[in-house]
Amino acid sequence: MNRYLVPIMIFLVGFFAFQCGSNTQPAPGNKASSDSTQSKPKSDTVVMMAGINSKGIGRFDSIQLTHPLDQKMAANGHDIYQAKCLACHKLTDELLVGPGWYGVTKRRTPEWIMNWITNTKVMLDKDQAAQADMVVCLIRMPNQDLTDEQARQVLEFMRKNDGEK
Ligand code: HEC
Repeated sequence: MNRYLVPIMIFLVGFFAFQCGSNTQPAPGNKASSDSTQSKPKSDTVVMMAGINSKGIGRFDSIQLTHPLDQKMAANGHDIYQAKCLACHKLTDELLVGPGWYGVTKRRTPEWIMNWITNTKVMLDKDQAAQADMVVCLIRMPNQDLTDEQARQVLEFMRKNDGEK
């Protein structure tokens, strides 16, 4: 056991703990991973996982997706993104103010995304998966006042951004 190993482990655990919404397991079986720095990413993992099947809270409980996706809706969604969302969301998986959108349609259901966009405040107050993001991101996403139709267009754009054809 050399004396540099523990500081390196602590650095790695700390580094991964501060990435919004992403999780990486530190090397298994090291002593540093059992201390308190580890408990935070661990609980995020649980809540983010809980979000995968959740429909969130709001009036959408069944969204029919089309295959292939609707290019016109996706183009409108892109415009809305540029006008109202770009300030806080990147299209990669990098955190800006909020989580990057790449992969969002894989970790959230379409219903959750629609409810989130149209019912942000209520979801932030009550939805567990949304609250987990808030803890990590430190600021609350303001309600964007989109119509249902606009929210649906943004969802289509997110699908396109995730590589859906
Ligand atoms: C002022 C900054 C800001 C703006 C503008 C904003 N958001 Fe957000 N968004 C956030 C933050 C911060 C979060 C993380 C949850 C939280 O803390 O409220 C978030 C989370 C999300 C999520 C969940 C992402 C995930 O990975 O689970 C979606 C979807 C989303 N926003 C959509 C939108 C849409 C659509 C718009 C534009 C119409 C928008 N946001 C505009 C700050 C913003």
